[in-house]
Amino acid sequence: MPDSQRTAYIAGIGMAVPPKVVTNEDFTRIVDTSDEWITQMTGIKERRYTDENTATSDLAVEASRVALERAGTDPLDVDAIVVATATPDMLFPSTACLVQHAIGATNAFAYDISAACSGFIFGLVQAQNFIRSGNVDTVLLIGAECLTKITDMSDRNTCVLFGDGAGAAVVKCCEPPRGLLDYVLKCDGSLSDYIKQPAGGSRNPSSTETVGAGDHVIRMKGRQVYVNASKNMSDAVMQVLEQQGLTGDDVDLLFPHQANIRIIQSVAERAGMPMEKVYVNIQKYGNTSAASIPIALAEAVEEGALKEGMLVALVAFGSGFTWGSALLRW
Ligand code: ACO
Repeated sequence: MPDSQRTAYIAGIGMAVPPKVVTNEDFTRIVDTSDEWITQMTGIKERRYTDENTATSDLAVEASRVALERAGTDPLDVDAIVVATATPDMLFPSTACLVQHAIGATNAFAYDISAACSGFIFGLVQAQNFIRSGNVDTVLLIGAECLTKITDMSDRNTCVLFGDGAGAAVVKCCEPPRGLLDYVLKCDGSLSDYIKQPAGGSRNPSSTETVGAGDHVIRMKGRQVYVNASKNMSDAVMQVLEQQGLTGDDVDLLFPHQANIRIIQSVAERAGMPMEKVYVNIQKYGNTSAASIPIALAEAVEEGALKEGMLVALVAFGSGFTWGSALLRW
């Protein structure tokens, strides 16, 4: 039976990033760029790269093991696994099925969702709805990406931005006032051309021509993404606060998708939050798409910055365009 008093909270969170660090200086040897430009324009100093033997599911499994241990949850008690990713191991089967097998969560159903950088927030809302249905008690929600596998290393507009990583959350049942309090989810498919991987799907299947044309990598109109992200992320976080009769003053910590420090600063300013309340780790990992928010949450917990009882806002924006914000009592 659906039960509106049942909501969802994050009982344990973990992260995984590959060990290889790629600095801004490293890019100056590949493309016409500088540490100064990248730092000033994006806030990124370094990012993590997977090697050729590591795929998205490997990072997802590593992050999941940490999250399950922190939540004190046996893999056999996981009812559902949701992986938010734009860079699955393969188009099918889903990366979530690979994770299910690797961690031995044999009682869980599993599938991927495609909402690009907003995927973790979309997945959190799905997790809450599963839990609210009464049929599911525990969801393993993962944001995991290997964006560097689909990055054009000769395109200075994109190659400096992305990194690999995963964050995993064990989402369990609780009652208000704890847990996911409210959310806003949005999309505008008319702007789908601004950031995409043009080839490899049914519209433009893989062929020697598509590979030769470089259509299997991320193509982005950075300025349009920047403008839309700044506006829509701040609108979303303000809307979710308004829905709850709250303002930026009430929020203890804001976790924005880590795409560009200037986007983050403009969102914080428009939402009326000083940067001291904004969690930023873009300098270390770059843009890890769906992984960026759970990685930030995991780091904040590890550092002791994120504590039980805090009011936390999440906000993200990505390809689609998709965007959304969620408000949680941690
Ligand atoms: N080094 C040096 N110069 C560069 C670099 C670089 N790495 N990249 C671009 N430039 C140049 C451009 O070629 C351009 O030069 P020109 O004026 O001679 O043509 C100049 O810098 C300005 O380029 P703009 O694109 O207008 O600069 P902008 O202020 O928009 O900053 C940036 C570019 C950082 C990419 C910004 O647009 C941005 O961050 N956009 C959002 C990107 C993003 O978040 N994408 C992911 C979201 S969705 C997802 O994560 C899947």
